[in-house]
Amino acid sequence: MSTRRNVVVFRELPDDQLARLTALHDVVVANPRKPEQKAAFEAALPRAHGLVGSSYAITPALLDIAPQLRVVSSISVGVDNYPLAALRERGILLCHTPGVLTETTADTVFALVMATNRRVVELANHVREGRWSRNIGEDLFGWDVNGKTLGILGFGRIGQAVARRAALGFGMPVRYHNPHAVDVPELAGRALHTPLDELLATSDIVAATLPLTDETRGLMGPREFALMKPGAIFVNGGRGATVQEAALLAALDSGHLRAAGLDVFATEPLPLESPLRCHPRVTALPHIGSATHETRYAMARLATTNLLQALAGERPQAVYAG
Ligand code: DGY
Repeated sequence: MSTRRNVVVFRELPDDQLARLTALHDVVVANPRKPEQKAAFEAALPRAHGLVGSSYAITPALLDIAPQLRVVSSISVGVDNYPLAALRERGILLCHTPGVLTETTADTVFALVMATNRRVVELANHVREGRWSRNIGEDLFGWDVNGKTLGILGFGRIGQAVARRAALGFGMPVRYHNPHAVDVPELAGRALHTPLDELLATSDIVAATLPLTDETRGLMGPREFALMKPGAIFVNGGRGATVQEAALLAALDSGHLRAAGLDVFATEPLPLESPLRCHPRVTALPHIGSATHETRYAMARLATTNLLQALAGERPQAVYAG
């Protein structure tokens, strides 16, 4: 009996990873985010045993037209694009890519911490636009990062990697908000498990690295931004929908917050009409947390391995649920 299964790749894979799949299975590549490929994606679902991809919401309605599906392998660590209860009910395994993107995503969060405090983008534009005609004055000075208190929302792998950069590299006292205290030996005495309200009220910079769950959706709202120190800076490298964007805008516009650095948004790509896009005190990035050549390759390779292991009847390396 043939062991070949039907695989749908719903986001492009590197050639060598696609070759690993096609050597063993029958593969359809169709990215439903491209309007011209959406029909091919949906047409392949009724026969699909495995899916691999990312950045597309796999709804219960899509699972209904994929009755043979056994495994979904996401090329992401976050799993908010997947209907966890519906997957569980149908006995479908969900795999993801933790670990391989931790350091790179922490780099992105720290880049936003640096960029917002030192006004890197604004001042680079100052030079680019020919406005550097005399030494800059106080109106264009930034604010120190070293020595400031950093509050981290979410203390999983990425939050901990941000804390290491801050505490060990920049001498920053770190506080973190997490359902439970986490023992990180190299951060002993340097990162304090802190209730949310206290963290917000005592941090100079608050950086969110939260996954999107029922508990974290809209966590940062008007009350939370009001609790932040006047002149504090907010950075988000987790998921956009953990923040009530209207409340963030109000806090920026009133001058209560000094700046925000955002890699993630409630709606992505960020709509052209979003006031966050060109806000003078927002540094906005197009969800690049893990987007380096090395890390995106490592994620694609791990997702491919997860899928192959599941289709071979083995326990995959990185199972999220199932
Ligand atoms: C993830 O892996 O969840 C990142 O946000 C990449 O999109």
